Amino acid sequence: MHLDLNALYNLRGKTVIVTGAAQGMGEAMARAFAGAGAKVMLADISGDQAASVARDIGGDAVAMATDMASEASIVALVKATRQQFGQIDILVNNAGVQHRRMLEDTDLAYWDQTLDINLRGVMLAMREAVAVMRADGTKGAIVNIASNSAFHPMAPSLMAYAASKAGVVSLTRSAAMEVAPDGIRVNAVCPGNTTTPGQGTASGPGFPPEVIAKFMPPLGRAGRPEEIAAAVLFLASDAASYITGQTLIADGGHLIG
Ligand SMILES: NC(=O)c1ccc[n+]([C@@H]2O[C@H](COP(=O)([O-])OP(=O)(O)OC[C@H]3O[C@@H](n4cnc5c(N)ncnc54)[C@H](O)[C@@H]3O)[C@@H](O)[C@H]2O)c1
Repeated sequence: MHLDLNALYNLRGKTVIVTGAAQGMGEAMARAFAGAGAKVMLADISGDQAASVARDIGGDAVAMATDMASEASIVALVKATRQQFGQIDILVNNAGVQHRRMLEDTDLAYWDQTLDINLRGVMLAMREAVAVMRADGTKGAIVNIASNSAFHPMAPSLMAYAASKAGVVSLTRSAAMEVAPDGIRVNAVCPGNTTTPGQGTASGPGFPPEVIAKFMPPLGRAGRPEEIAAAVLFLASDAASYITGQTLIADGGHLIG
C-alpha cells in the first residue's frame, strides 16, 4: 500500500485550538499547524502577545485571551472557536505553569493554582471540545502536553508540577477510552528539558548547578520548541490515525539516561 506522506500531514481545512500559544512550545505548535494548512486559535492568558503571534502567522490565525484556571474562560474559548471556524478538529492543551516550592512551603493557594491550570484546565477544555466534536460528528484529535517529570522527579521543588503532569497522563488515557467510540483520539506528549522563555532553560531560577547538570539528557542538549511541535503535529495528524491513549516522551532520552 502506498503511503502519501503529504496527505497524512496535510491539515488544510482543519481547525485547531492551541492553549498557551503566546510563546515557547505553544507558539511553535501554532506556527507548525498553520504551516500544515490549519486554521489556528491561539489561546493564552497573555492575549496581546498571542494576538501579536497570530498577526505574524497571518492567514486564518486568530487569538483569544483565555485563562485556563477559569471554567468560564475555557467555555468561552471553545464557543468562540466554533463560531469563528465552524468546527473544532484539534485541541492542544499546552498551557502550563511551573512554579517551584518545597513541600514545607506548599500552601493551598500555590497547590490549587498549579493544579487548576495544569490539570483541571485540561479536563475542562477536553470536556468542552469533545461536546462540540460530538455534536458536529467531528472525528477529532486531542493532544495534551504533560512532562517527563510525570514519571520521574526531575528536581526538588517540583512536586505540585509533577503531580499535575502525572494527572494529565492519566486524564489522557481515561478520556481516550471514553471518546474512542466517537472516533476521537486523545494522546499526550511529555517534553523534557526544552528551551523556552518560561521554562526548561538551564538558567531557570532556583536550581543549583548540580541539579541543572542533571537536566541534560543523553542526546546532550536541551530540546527546541519546534521538536516538541513536530511530535504534537504527528499525533494530531492522520499519520497517527490508529494511535490513542498514548504518551509520547520527547526528552532527548532523559528517562533512559
Ligand atoms: N520547557 C520545558 O522544559 C518543559 C518541559 C516539560 C513540559 N513542559 C510543558 O510544556 C508546556 C509549554 O511550556 P513552555 O516551556 O513553552 O512554557 P512557557 O512558560 O514558555 O509558555 C507557557 C504559555 O502558557 C501561558 N499560560 C500560563 N498560564 C496560563 C493560563 N492560566 N491560561 C492560559 N495560558 C497560560 C503563558 O502565558 C505562556 O504563553 C507547559 O505545559 C509546560 O509545563 C515544558
